[in-house]
Amino acid sequence: HLRELLLLNEVDSTNTQLLARMEEGDGHAVAMLAERQSAGRGRRGRNWISPYGTGVSLSVGWEFSGGVQSLEGLSLAVGVALARALERFSVPDVRLKWPNDIWCRGSKLAGVLLELKGDLTDRCAVVIGIGLNSGLRIETATKIDQPWADLQQVCPGIPRNHLVAAILDELLLLLHEYPQRGFSAHRDAWTKLDQFAGQPVILQAGSQVWTGIAAGVDDKGALILDMDGELKHFHGGEISLRGQ
Ligand code: BTN
Repeated sequence: HLRELLLLNEVDSTNTQLLARMEEGDGHAVAMLAERQSAGRGRRGRNWISPYGTGVSLSVGWEFSGGVQSLEGLSLAVGVALARALERFSVPDVRLKWPNDIWCRGSKLAGVLLELKGDLTDRCAVVIGIGLNSGLRIETATKIDQPWADLQQVCPGIPRNHLVAAILDELLLLLHEYPQRGFSAHRDAWTKLDQFAGQPVILQAGSQVWTGIAAGVDDKGALILDMDGELKHFHGGEISLRGQ
């Protein structure tokens, strides 16, 4: 269960705020929603644009008693949980793009920013940030530097509160069972939704670039790239993936 659900009008970033609470030891099972973020953050140091009336900006804090190693693949599993929540409302054509973007009809609908604090053995704290586009206005949309999808356009009329309740429901289920079951329990579900399975892709980490065919994910959530028959496994972090 959640201990606290905070609804804020405006905040710099729900992830930043919740990370601060985790540090004080008071962030476990807390969810924070904001109407607007003035400094929303995305993966790989990018901004996440989230002015008023543009969907969902949500963070959830959770403490685990195991070390960070037991959380491998969690961010991919969060993608599966989000897809499940969207499927409850029959949102069509939901797909996942490694490591944890939610796509719809060939563009990004939602993103996940998972931030960890902890050590390798003892306990660790996670903040899971979810940003979902809905009702983007054109002046906002033109600032986004990648193809985007908008829930209100794809599937109009979903009450936002119901959607958030479904997301929280799926997330809490996942967080409770994750230490025991790990990513392998979610691998098949992830694979079914894999946007790029069997397609030529480009992976990039800084100035390094790899090309090959996307060949799914392994039990730990690493992307498998088929490079002329040689299978190479890539673990999340700062790597980006795009179609060729
Ligand atoms: C990405 O795809 O790059 C991840 C985007 C994550 C955005 C969400 S919005 C709520 C939470 N607070 C933040 O500052 N970021 C995440």
